[in-house]
Amino acid sequence: MPGKKSETRYRTTEIEHCLQHCRTPDLQELLRTATEAAVKAGTVLQERYDQPHQIHHKGVIDLVTEADLAAEKLILDVLGDNMPGIRVLSEESFASYDKIPEEAVWIIDPLDGTTNFAHNFPWFAVSIALYDKGQSQIGVIYNPLQEELFCATRTGGAWLNNQRIKVSEVSALRNALVATGFPYDLQERTDPILAMLKTVLTHTQGVRRPGAAALDLAYLACGRLDAFWEIGLKPWDTAAGYLLVEEAGGTLSNFNGSPFSPFIPELLASNTLLHSDLTALLHGFSTVLPCI
Ligand code: IPD
Ligand code: CA
Ligand code: CA
Repeated sequence: MPGKKSETRYRTTEIEHCLQHCRTPDLQELLRTATEAAVKAGTVLQERYDQPHQIHHKGVIDLVTEADLAAEKLILDVLGDNMPGIRVLSEESFASYDKIPEEAVWIIDPLDGTTNFAHNFPWFAVSIALYDKGQSQIGVIYNPLQEELFCATRTGGAWLNNQRIKVSEVSALRNALVATGFPYDLQERTDPILAMLKTVLTHTQGVRRPGAAALDLAYLACGRLDAFWEIGLKPWDTAAGYLLVEEAGGTLSNFNGSPFSPFIPELLASNTLLHSDLTALLHGFSTVLPCI
């Protein structure tokens, strides 16, 4: 389909600066491939967005639509064709893992914000990361409705549509706009979730719950949000976004201040300036033991 091809090429030119800042040619090729996959999948989501959806329940409030599956298939095809041999951890079809991967693995959320998508609420994205040597090396997040392509490579900076991005300079909680999200098993832990919400809400300028964790992190990376917290996250929710935040000058940890990993479900992310104040608010809610 010629339309789709030119769209993909156009978007690939929008990562030129990110490509130039890659440490190695291999990383450049991986970034090109991840971007092509994210943009193709995003185009499919955009096309299906205002069509009737086939919605299935994975849990009581956890949905999957035909678009999640179509986007995932496309991503797996692009990654498999261009970079055969790299393992995949992907929300809908290859979601199980029994240990933190030691070799390179693509970590994929084909549609982050499925509940929004299913309700025609225009807020969702594709998220693809390459995780290797204990951390994400590449992160790409594509919001197809806003045509915003976020990407980062380790030590190479974070970018939005070819412009370098950095976190905000807000240093007082009272001036901070903070995002959160709620896990699908929230009925089982409503009390701490509401207590955390009350605590942050009453100390900051405002709290948002947009409904796509990858975009929450991308928005933190480019300074539109000042912090983000959530429990019950999965690796595909955060693997790309956490690299964006780190490369944009932000800080990530668990609520108790111990180091974050996408394989740990508890995340506090901030513009760094707010981190100690937010840790002071949330550390009592941590269910993760410090690694140090
Ligand atoms: C969900 C979204 C949501 C977050 C949930 C995630 P999904 O991902 O990121 O914002 O609060 O924890 O599971 O299911 O739409 O890919
Ligand atoms: Ca997700
Ligand atoms: Ca998803």
